[in-house]
Amino acid sequence: MSRILSSTTVGIVGGGPAGLMLSHLLQVAGIESVVIETRPREEIEHTHRAGILERDSVRLLVDSGVSDRVLRDGHEHRGIDLRFGGTSHRIDFQGLVGASTWLYPQTDVFLDLADARQRDGGDVRYAVTGTSVVDVTSDRPGMLFTDSAGAEHEVRCDVLVGADGSRSMTRSSVEGRTEYFRQYPFAWFGILCEAPPSAEELIYARGDAGFALISSRTDAIQRMYFQCSPEESVDDWSEDRIWSELQGRLAGEDGFTLTEGRIFEKTVLPFRSYVCEPMRHGNLLLAGDAAHTVPPTGAKGLNLALADVRVLAEVLERFVRKSDSSALDDYTDRALTRVWKAQNFSYWMTTLLHALPGATHFDARRQLAELESVVGSVGGSTYLAEAYTGWPTRSERGLSPGRSCR
Ligand code: PHB
Repeated sequence: MSRILSSTTVGIVGGGPAGLMLSHLLQVAGIESVVIETRPREEIEHTHRAGILERDSVRLLVDSGVSDRVLRDGHEHRGIDLRFGGTSHRIDFQGLVGASTWLYPQTDVFLDLADARQRDGGDVRYAVTGTSVVDVTSDRPGMLFTDSAGAEHEVRCDVLVGADGSRSMTRSSVEGRTEYFRQYPFAWFGILCEAPPSAEELIYARGDAGFALISSRTDAIQRMYFQCSPEESVDDWSEDRIWSELQGRLAGEDGFTLTEGRIFEKTVLPFRSYVCEPMRHGNLLLAGDAAHTVPPTGAKGLNLALADVRVLAEVLERFVRKSDSSALDDYTDRALTRVWKAQNFSYWMTTLLHALPGATHFDARRQLAELESVVGSVGGSTYLAEAYTGWPTRSERGLSPGRSCR
């Protein structure tokens, strides 16, 4: 069978939030792209991922014209609760840094982006197979794939973007890369249940038996997690056992209890930190999970992917419009500054709240003192509030005066 040859300006491997957002931003800038994705659209729609958007992620969705549904269907959270020693301590994001986050599941972000691409006539090919990238260091790199109807394609482009997730295939073309990696000795046990919310905002809890997180999806569906062993099997956990574990980790003198309900999904989530440097090789640039993974404690994964493509769209515009080939050189440094800050924050939140296997009494007391230091002063809480709501996009260094806008 002969290959169908075509060309575009930017070839994007991966049709998750990073790939679709980039394709959207490029179209706004008048730049053509083709997105290819191995999963069918319906499969991505049913993948449950994290649910918290930083203030600038919300702005990007709304201001770039993807959709303003997040402002209607999302829930603004003006803070979170840190819970330890049996009591809750509120971190007031609005009071500390004048910013909020939004509870808006990744599935909804994907739906908005996929609908916007369809609405605007974007070229997105779902359910492709046999993908490979070729000639990435030449000025005419290409993506090869077989479409869902079985036809073979070769798309040549000016630039290729690898936005193909944590099991990235495109990443292997970044020759000479350095990979930074950290494995953690625990995982998260995640559930979805049919119940009303137990709290108005997220609760990050440190119990003696380990971490727990109380999040939400809708008024009728709740998302909760508790720290478990990476080898844990979901089949060993009955509903009763799950509820007694979660209730135990949240219990305290204030009498707080979770509202229970039927559990309809159980998953063990892997936990690791990873960075690939550089994020570029020749005319191939990596974005999102393809280049970095963070533990979910800081809710940074999706937000980092969106921050990458915001930078990438700017860089590509300069490259394409002004034929400025040095533009691509800026990408790695600009993106990595935020990536490593998010790595540090996610690692810090993780070690602040999880029970580390083999921890001594000293370690446990020290951890409680660290939590007391965070909640006990404006200085302690402000780092958390600033990092959690997202560092300002324009100035990566410290608060900008425009911060009053939430
Ligand atoms: C979620 O709602 O799935 C969620 C929220 C906050 C996190 C991680 C996951 O830090």
